[in-house]
Amino acid sequence: MFTPPFILSIAGGGSTYTPGIVKSLMVRLQDFPLAEIRLYDIDEARQNTIAPVVEKVIRDHSQSIKFTVTSDPEVAFSGAHFVFAQMRVGQYKMREQDEKIPLRHGVVGQETCGPGGLAYGLRTILPMVELIDLVDRYAHEKAWIVNYSNPAAIVAEGVRRLRPNARVLNICDMPVAAMRNMGAILGVDRRKLEVDYFGLNHFGWFTRVLVDGEDKLPELRKHIAKFGLLTEDAAKTDPQHSDPSWVKTWRNIKPIMDNFPEYLPNPYLQYYLMPNQIVEHQNPDYTRANEVMNGREKKLFAAAEEYKRTGILPDAFHVGVHGEFIVDVACSLAFNLRSRHLVMVENRGAITNLPYDAVVEVPAYITSEGPEPIRVGQVPLFHQTLLQQQLASEQLLVEATIEGSYEKALQAFTLNRTVPTMEHAKAILDEMIEANSDYWPALQKAWQDGE
Ligand code: G6P
Ligand code: MN
Repeated sequence: MFTPPFILSIAGGGSTYTPGIVKSLMVRLQDFPLAEIRLYDIDEARQNTIAPVVEKVIRDHSQSIKFTVTSDPEVAFSGAHFVFAQMRVGQYKMREQDEKIPLRHGVVGQETCGPGGLAYGLRTILPMVELIDLVDRYAHEKAWIVNYSNPAAIVAEGVRRLRPNARVLNICDMPVAAMRNMGAILGVDRRKLEVDYFGLNHFGWFTRVLVDGEDKLPELRKHIAKFGLLTEDAAKTDPQHSDPSWVKTWRNIKPIMDNFPEYLPNPYLQYYLMPNQIVEHQNPDYTRANEVMNGREKKLFAAAEEYKRTGILPDAFHVGVHGEFIVDVACSLAFNLRSRHLVMVENRGAITNLPYDAVVEVPAYITSEGPEPIRVGQVPLFHQTLLQQQLASEQLLVEATIEGSYEKALQAFTLNRTVPTMEHAKAILDEMIEANSDYWPALQKAWQDGE
């Protein structure tokens, strides 16, 4: 453990999420004291746009925290104790491709699920490894990387394969966002909930939701049977995940639980269990990437512009579970709090009927030496089989990235539940290879050489 105040670097400093994360840090300065915040991004222009907003958020709370904005990794990471990573390789422009290419073939087009997620994985694994190596070179030897970068399941598997000893904790805010909604339905703060959960990232199930030792899943089931996993006035719960497309996602918990009422699914299971409905309701010319570019991103850029002009910062970014969660996790790592959170870990027998070395998402105690997963035991055959298939698809994708293998990429696409046939897989993959020519040189070569 190191002594506070800490040096924290945010890799992907130009992200739309940065101001919200920094605001969450400012609210928790007593718990997580900071000497310096550094923003690091390879897109200097974008980061320079966001940085004044971030600086204002810091100065509203503290005059003493040093603030550094850089695209030099040595400056960014030297002596850092914590790195929050949130890279988006290819930015929203490539997310748009990830979503639109599969849709043109009648297949789910999504940021982290199906072919879109696989494509995003192919772009992100190696840059993530580069980041780990930079942190390893410059940062404090006990530094922790807390990683939000998507597609988290694939990134986590890639990191496990390529840098097994790295001090990286892979996290996702989806389970906490679901718990926020559960809390709103039950009328209790989400921090009062203790949940059991098993699965992979964006592919898992809540099996118990305890409040003061009592399982509230039966009560939640009744609410979900009518409204899905949201309160009638979703927007009041939290501004993130309350756009119409997210409201629809929360409502889709209902049809899934109408059929399989035992466990409460991660909302992302809609893409695997109801793909036709998803594709039918999706405008192939205007996907979530367009919504985000014209919504969250535009609003933040406009606010940054207005702040530059007037010195007044409009209310333009979101502070919620996303920021709160990463700070909670970092506090537990920093002070060995052993708080219980859902995170990604190597299975090592936690789920007895999944491979020992699979990266799974389960509850864990977060210690200063990393997560200690809580034993889940055996999961039912139905869930185990779904998980195995998804895992195989993601593992093959990681191997395709490492080996530059076209055939393994095609196997990964073909095995994914969202993709109906080998023909679909091939047509989508080939279009994606062209769209990703700046990012997948090895794969492109293998494809051209017919390997
Ligand atoms: C959730 C997921 C993230 C994902 C995000 C997308 O928070 O956990 O992994 O990136 O939703 O939200 P967006 O508003 O960009 O569609
Ligand atoms: Mn996520």
